[in-house]
Amino acid sequence: MRTAIVGATGAVGQTMLSILEQRDFPVSELRLMASERSAGRKVSTVWGEIEIEDLAEADPSGIEVALFSAGGDRSREFAPRFAGAGAVVVDNSSAFRMEPSVPLVVAGVNDAAAADRPDGIIANPNCTTMALLMAVGPLHRVARVRSVVATSYQSVSGSGMQGVNELLRQTDALRPNPEALQSGGWSDPGSSVYRRPIGFNVLPFAGSEKDGGYTDEEWKLVNETRKILDAPEILVEPTCVRVPVVVGHGIAATLRFDRPVDVSEAVAALEQAPGVAVWQHVPPTPLDSAGIDDVLVGRIRGTVGEPGGLNLWVVGDNLRKGAALNAVQLAELVAAEG
Ligand code: A2P
Repeated sequence: MRTAIVGATGAVGQTMLSILEQRDFPVSELRLMASERSAGRKVSTVWGEIEIEDLAEADPSGIEVALFSAGGDRSREFAPRFAGAGAVVVDNSSAFRMEPSVPLVVAGVNDAAAADRPDGIIANPNCTTMALLMAVGPLHRVARVRSVVATSYQSVSGSGMQGVNELLRQTDALRPNPEALQSGGWSDPGSSVYRRPIGFNVLPFAGSEKDGGYTDEEWKLVNETRKILDAPEILVEPTCVRVPVVVGHGIAATLRFDRPVDVSEAVAALEQAPGVAVWQHVPPTPLDSAGIDDVLVGRIRGTVGEPGGLNLWVVGDNLRKGAALNAVQLAELVAAEG
């Protein structure tokens, strides 16, 4: 496949490149694109040294599959142009996710939807929804999910390299004075990515404010869950939280079904699900998930109040399955169509 990565210098774009290499994606020609700031830089890949092109100047003709992760504005402008020139675009931004004519696909959960793409665009879900759905999807096949209460613990790489840099800088700035972190008097290290300091802190509002006091991240959990499962009736109650973790999004979820589901039934379903590893005896943490492909599910417990539901904890590498790996898996589905 003549393949392009748009946003190739970003946190997700770089991971897309290494996953294409690791999974031996059938690349006949690879093109890497980013902003004019990066144009001309050379990147060494298993397919040779490749010069980064300025997206604004790049001619998309001949590209068969394009993996986009350069932000929503670039996707809105360039994805239709690439698709119009014949490429299948796998878009990691939120630009097209809720368009009825664009399939929203978690590979391993709703693969069949990827084939119906009248606009030539397949959307990659939000990284938190992706991890959650890797657990909820297989359970929904066992018994229909009625409601999901989900609280996320999202790492800073979900905000791109700039999120990682802000956490590291603030950690360095605050670390020399641990007394101030215990008893107040810390001096504000200055924040540009987040509204409050993320170093040594927890921010109970991941994303930007949207309707009803919820953030856009929270609305993505609601709307994308319903679209992926093709179940608009599912009730989703989201709270998205940013934590000082570099990679790995965790989600604590309470699920209720249209009939009682017990823990052993849930464990059996999740153990058979592709791309899922069940860690029932050691609770999986973001550090365990970083750099691996599987989404880890643990602490699967029956609900305490009204019996028959489940409480569980899911954690996944937001750059891999949460973004780049799923995008490459969708490209593999396209490649397999022949
Ligand atoms: P660049 O590195 O040249 O700015 P991240 O979210 O990890 O920061 O990555 C964002 C990606 O999107 C980078 O590859 C970045 O390229 C790319 N990007 C940002 N703005 C533009 C733009 N105006 N045109 C093309 N690519 C862009």
